[in-house]
Amino acid sequence: MSHRITLEGGDGFDVSAGEDTLLRGALRAGVGFPYDCSVGGCGSCRFDLVSGEMESLWDGAPGLSERDRRRGKRLACQSRPLSDCTIKVRTGEEYRPPVPPVPMTAVLVARRPVTASMAEFILKTAEPAHFIAGQYAVFRPPGTDGTRAYSMSNLPNGEGEWRFVIRRVPGGRGSNAMFDALAIGDTLDIDGPYGHAHFRAEAPRDVVCIAGGSGIGPVVSVARAAVAASPGRRLFVFEGARTREDLCFPALMGTAQDGVTVYTPVLSAEADGSGWDGVRGFVHEEVERAVGPRAEESEFYFAGPPPMTEALQKLLVVKWTVPIARIHFDRFF
Ligand SMILES: Cc1cc2nc3c(=O)[nH]c(=O)nc-3n(C[C@H](O)[C@H](O)[C@H](O)COP(=O)(O)OP(=O)(O)OC[C@H]3O[C@@H](n4cnc5c(N)ncnc54)[C@H](O)[C@@H]3O)c2cc1C
Ligand code: FES
Repeated sequence: MSHRITLEGGDGFDVSAGEDTLLRGALRAGVGFPYDCSVGGCGSCRFDLVSGEMESLWDGAPGLSERDRRRGKRLACQSRPLSDCTIKVRTGEEYRPPVPPVPMTAVLVARRPVTASMAEFILKTAEPAHFIAGQYAVFRPPGTDGTRAYSMSNLPNGEGEWRFVIRRVPGGRGSNAMFDALAIGDTLDIDGPYGHAHFRAEAPRDVVCIAGGSGIGPVVSVARAAVAASPGRRLFVFEGARTREDLCFPALMGTAQDGVTVYTPVLSAEADGSGWDGVRGFVHEEVERAVGPRAEESEFYFAGPPPMTEALQKLLVVKWTVPIARIHFDRFF
């Protein structure tokens, strides 16, 4: 059984009655529905319900402001159709998924610590791992309300291997459940791929990758893809972390690190007198200092906490006027 979703003034699409959300149903149907985070944080998937019945999965989602709520706005990533519906939303070609997302069952085959607070999770599906480097999958960690998004840190492959670098967030329900409640051999329903911050192999420019904390996962994936796509291309990687023990890019890259032109670790909370003679401060400050004149010839990829992504957006868009089409990022809510 399915529900027909009609776009006011346009076409429509069918969403299976068992579908988790309106957004996933739309993207599976190949519709260019606007979105970014898939988890209720950004507000990009706002729409108006004109008629029909739609269940809200998370009334308090921060992606809607009080004003949005007063105006009756809803989030497609937190809504599930319960009947045929008519909705109002501006769809766009740029949102059409390059790889249609599919729901799959994965098995956790390994969990490898990479720092004191982060581990690489390796999952296997029967289906090939179809995605573009830099994209993410969504899943519901055991025992949590709502889904979480985690970016793949490996490259697409026919063996169905999905790697994620996950940080244990103090007090975080989902991330802690991934460490404490999921055992090797357990299964997890995963859905993907999602996201627009994927590698553009066709762009003939230098690649600048910037990671803050657990943003390292998609940065490793994009850096690997850049090395594989054209080994001669200049690739600059900045890794922002608190202390030396929190750095993990070289360990995750392995021998592919040889394809990186310059790797710059930047530490924000390394103790004075620890012997660290590298860069100190915030990673966006070092990007501003080091990339400056090269910005015009570069394609930018970054992922990490909102203060870092906002500082980089300000630097790239406002100060350096880099065209939006060359800036690809995920804000980790
Ligand atoms: C596109 C994207 C990619 C990401 N990739 C990574 C990655 O590769 N590695 C990594 O470590 N982290 C990543 N994150 C962050 C990750 O998704 C989690 O936010 C983080 O692990 C903290 O989750 P938590 O459950 O531990 O914390 P919590 O504070 O318990 O929850 C954090 C988030 O979960 C969602 N949430 C909470 N409650 C509900 C609810 N009732 N219903 C629905 N949703 C709810 C919200 O989005 C909230 O901000 C990514 C985030 C995004 C948006
Ligand atoms: S995509 Fe729905 S709130 Fe971000």
